[in-house]
Amino acid sequence: MNDESPIIIITGASSGIGKAVALKLAESKPKIVIVARRQKELMKTAHAVKRKGAKVLPIIGDVRNREDRERVVNLTMKAFGQIDVLINNAGLGKANLFIDQPDEEIDELIETNILALIKLTHRVLPIMKEQGKGHIINLSSTLALLPSYPFAVYCATKAAVKTFSDCIREEVKEYGIKISTVYPGPYDTNFGKVAGYGKSGFQGYDVQGLAEHIAKLVSKPKDNLIKPWFFVPLVWVTIFSKRLKRKIITGIADTIIKAKRETDLTIMLEEKKQEEIELLAR
Ligand SMILES: NC(=O)c1ccc[n+]([C@@H]2O[C@H](COP(=O)([O-])OP(=O)(O)OC[C@H]3O[C@@H](n4cnc5c(N)ncnc54)[C@H](OP(=O)(O)O)[C@@H]3O)[C@@H](O)[C@H]2O)c1
Repeated sequence: MNDESPIIIITGASSGIGKAVALKLAESKPKIVIVARRQKELMKTAHAVKRKGAKVLPIIGDVRNREDRERVVNLTMKAFGQIDVLINNAGLGKANLFIDQPDEEIDELIETNILALIKLTHRVLPIMKEQGKGHIINLSSTLALLPSYPFAVYCATKAAVKTFSDCIREEVKEYGIKISTVYPGPYDTNFGKVAGYGKSGFQGYDVQGLAEHIAKLVSKPKDNLIKPWFFVPLVWVTIFSKRLKRKIITGIADTIIKAKRETDLTIMLEEKKQEEIELLAR
């Protein structure tokens, strides 16, 4: 059973923020359960966490799948006997104008970013209530606070994460359960590649700094974490200035649309090059 080191579940730990947080947390030797679909990448995280001296249980699974979510909870309880922290980090974005967005993308965004997060939280909360303590950390986005196209559905899912977290925070605090929401700005992870603008020159902030702040949340829970810091005054100012808000939103949209165009062009050129190589090889 538990020997005082916290038991932490991190979804989406095969790359990016989830992986960086797992590695940062590993330094204080907790027991970490990591979840993602890509086996090879998840095992790389598991080995790196283990090398830092923490106990790790990697679970290959899709958070959208009910049986996989059950497996995560049941295996964690079987291995470690309790769940102290759940970091709902698994998620993705798709940069597309809403009018052109394929139906499957809308489904994937809603099912991963919000439905799976709500259902995993719903499964874990009774365990935390029974324990008399627990902490859930939900990954939203600064795009929930400054919603911008071509990310309409993504922004809607992250705004839902914000609202959901704000609601349950009040509901569950009497059971000793804390709810934190993290609002990252643009960080350099696999996000851009998955969203469809990753082959452009667009570069986000280094994820290590963010991982340190999220890891600190585990020992010192707080309601909201917005990073990088300058998004805090930016969000405040835009509450009072609609003009500035519109300027920022169109600025984000222009940057992402340009990055997506560059990526589409790079992919097209790569495919053409491949076709030519295949033709020459015949
Ligand atoms: N990077 C940013 O700029 C940024 C900004 C704001 C918010 N966020 C949020 O931060 C979180 C982490 O994103 P990231 O930037 O670290 O991107 P990332 O490098 O692409 O990581 C996303 C992680 O989520 C996992 N994942 C996605 N769908 C999954 C599914 N159905 N089942 C299980 N795991 C799944 C991925 O693993 P597999 O593919 O192996 O399953 C991966 O480990 C997301 O919720 C994202 O919306 C990121």
